[in-house]
Amino acid sequence: MLHDPNHLYIFDTTLRDGEQVPGCQLSTKEKIDIALDLEKLGVDIIEAGFPVSSPGDFQSVVELSRALKEPIICALTRANKKDIDVAAESLKEAKRSRIHTGIGSSDMHIKHKFNSTREEILERAIEAVKYAKKYVEDVEFYAEDAGRADKAYLAQMIEGVIKAGATVVNIPDTNGYCLPDQYGEIIQYLKENVSNIDQAIISAHCHNDLGLATANSISGIQRGVRQIECTINGIGERAGNTSLEEVVMIMKVHNEFLGNIETTIDTKFFTQISQKVSRLMNMPVQPNKAIVGKNAFAHSSGIHQDGFLKHRENYEIIRPEDVGVEEAGIILTARSGRAALNHHLLRLGYQIDKEKLKSIYSAFLTLADEKKEIKDEDLHQLVKN
Ligand code: KIV
Ligand code: ZN
Repeated sequence: MLHDPNHLYIFDTTLRDGEQVPGCQLSTKEKIDIALDLEKLGVDIIEAGFPVSSPGDFQSVVELSRALKEPIICALTRANKKDIDVAAESLKEAKRSRIHTGIGSSDMHIKHKFNSTREEILERAIEAVKYAKKYVEDVEFYAEDAGRADKAYLAQMIEGVIKAGATVVNIPDTNGYCLPDQYGEIIQYLKENVSNIDQAIISAHCHNDLGLATANSISGIQRGVRQIECTINGIGERAGNTSLEEVVMIMKVHNEFLGNIETTIDTKFFTQISQKVSRLMNMPVQPNKAIVGKNAFAHSSGIHQDGFLKHRENYEIIRPEDVGVEEAGIILTARSGRAALNHHLLRLGYQIDKEKLKSIYSAFLTLADEKKEIKDEDLHQLVKN
């Protein structure tokens, strides 16, 4: 498969890795609702489910395959024939389909999950890819727990599966174990030691157990990764997956430094889709979450508010409207200064002279010490008094 080295493929797994979180299960109708938004957002690949896991998941993959036109629809399997048969069946109506198969690659998984040997696992990996190729051209292979695998063995596995026809090789940091440099070094090692590596796209699938999923994904991109597996709001197993919105905004903000690599994501839909995923999955977004948290564009300290009101770029590296937020918030609290207070009074139509502002400000501070946040009705009251 030929690919543009300046394009970063966005592989969304909100509906698979995200949906397997307890309490986040979705009906097929809800999955279609989110998937249509993901299509509008411009993701390249949607991992629609793990079809062998349940009849409901199978049916969701069937219906998502019917409903979506643009993105590649991907189904997850383990490295066995039954899983692959079922996945292929579920993808029959997809305009473009991919089977995502794989197996553990670390000695930990080989011994304590499969009770097997490196040789046997390598053989199963290659056989699974060959088998999936009977159904679809586009086969992605995941080397589970690659973050803790022996690099030489991992390279041997990746070389073998590419030879068997894998178009994409996924190097998951399944346990969120790696540091960014360590993850980057794995990618670099594969680039230097897998003879056929240029015949496949390298994919990063990072978990967030140490809060490093996004950093590790970016480190991977710097060493040659060209597909990122991620979810809306970073939802996913345990501490979650790489957050889609974070990776995409990092690629935008640091585009030149990161080598002018582009995505096809329309970032102005971020807020809308984040809220929908949060609502349907019953999973609140923490207020300080980068890009989509309620406070991501809210300025509350006096020093920041004053600097922001003088020149917004003093405290703003992303324009809120670029991610679908109508405007930045100047929140009025006991830490706010006179500039912020005046900004809101002007917004409400009050032209206040310096002396009056001084006295309103001191009443404002007394009230703000009592209340967490000062609202418009409080401001009207303060002006009246
Ligand atoms: O975290 C992981 O390793 C996975 C694989 C199934 C791709 O989710
Ligand atoms: Zn995962």
